[in-house]
Amino acid sequence: MADIGIDPWGSDDSTDYDALSERFGLERMDLSAIKNPSMLQRRDLVFAHRDLNVPLSAAERGDPFGVLTGLMPSGKMHLGHTMVIEQAKWFQEIGADVTVAVADLESVATRGMSLEQGRKVALEEYVSNYAAMGLDPDKTSVYFQSSRPEVQRLAFVLGRRTNLSELGSIYGFGGNTNLAHVQAPLVQVGDILHPMLDDFGGLRPIVVPVGVDQDPHIRLTRDIVSKTQWFNIRHAKTSGLLVSLSVQEDNKAVFGMSESGRIDKSKRKEVISSVVEILVDLGFADVTPNPSHGTVTIPAATRSDEQAIRNRLLQLERSMGGLGLMAPASSYHRFAMGLTGGKMSSSKPETTIFLNDSIESMKKKIRKAHSGGQPTVEEHRRLGGNTDRDVAYQYLRFFFEPDDSELERIASQYASGSILAGEMKQMCIERAEEWLSELSEKRSQWSDRLEEFLS
Ligand code: TRP
Repeated sequence: MADIGIDPWGSDDSTDYDALSERFGLERMDLSAIKNPSMLQRRDLVFAHRDLNVPLSAAERGDPFGVLTGLMPSGKMHLGHTMVIEQAKWFQEIGADVTVAVADLESVATRGMSLEQGRKVALEEYVSNYAAMGLDPDKTSVYFQSSRPEVQRLAFVLGRRTNLSELGSIYGFGGNTNLAHVQAPLVQVGDILHPMLDDFGGLRPIVVPVGVDQDPHIRLTRDIVSKTQWFNIRHAKTSGLLVSLSVQEDNKAVFGMSESGRIDKSKRKEVISSVVEILVDLGFADVTPNPSHGTVTIPAATRSDEQAIRNRLLQLERSMGGLGLMAPASSYHRFAMGLTGGKMSSSKPETTIFLNDSIESMKKKIRKAHSGGQPTVEEHRRLGGNTDRDVAYQYLRFFFEPDDSELERIASQYASGSILAGEMKQMCIERAEEWLSELSEKRSQWSDRLEEFLS
């Protein structure tokens, strides 16, 4: 591929985060807008997002909002997988309810894993670690894609809003792509949107913390959502916002549009006055309805009013029989390098540390890890080490050293040559040992209480 792209199932490890953000319109993280940024956010490891202001302002107001994320139970859970759980935990700490999908259908579709195997792996490898990592069981629910009919139903229904050529251009699917694989992203759309259904918490902002490789699914979801919405909001020509009806197959009758295209004026007026009522209730005294165009202009409204208006219109849509879905927000983490310098991969145990690796095996792996040190001690003292290429340092940064000033001290002493490559590895090993032991202890504490996390 000449262009920079993202393949959620690919094994490409060249990730140019700036180019990706640029090309797909990700917003860079703005730390000044976040009260107590997490470790990953402070270190720019969660580096970009879409619409993050929506869940964050809900948090600020103390309004409900949710997190939905997921992992494929494709093998053993490793360090790289902890990042979405860490992200989810942070949102939970500021008030979110958390839902985690076990993507067992996706494992069937893309890894050829059986559902039975997926269930076993998920419980032993994943759910136990979600518990150990400190998600709050009272505000967390883990479910399997294969056993949540509402997710599959949404996937099916929303499938009407996309087609093969869109999926082809997002994912590179072609004539030989098996159909389970084609369905997998739609199931993910169902995952992401179903917490907004009344049975799963109802209409509220949902944020999806993921690795940036998952952004194609977020784009697909947001695109589908925008097609389902019954009311559009855009900037009016002169100033203010303009609400317009989006007439489509499933709302034609409600919106007073006959088969022949004739407008039932009284029905249309009713709809428009429901919109006006909402706007007045929100405090906009001056609005201009135009029933025959199906629009309402709000001259005094600004961008910052959009979310509140959107919310109420989605409620109205629901009361009229629509799905009333809000576009999900998302946040994206960078990928930690693999131990051997390339990509981390569960199918190559030497590239990563599994969460249930023994301390001995962890030590061996880190000792062998790719280093940013100089070939000789003399050169290292003189030239200093390269933190960017040093796995031990990077793992301290991504996973094991929570204290920013300590991390900074380590980085500058490495760069100046006063910390040697072997010493860096030793520090990483010590902190990793502590980290893994604590995790394993927590895992055993939770081992007979995992059902508290399962829905
Ligand atoms: N596709 C994700 C992965 O490969 C798993 C997943 C399924 C997911 N559904 C999701 C992630 C919904 C985030 C949101 O790991």
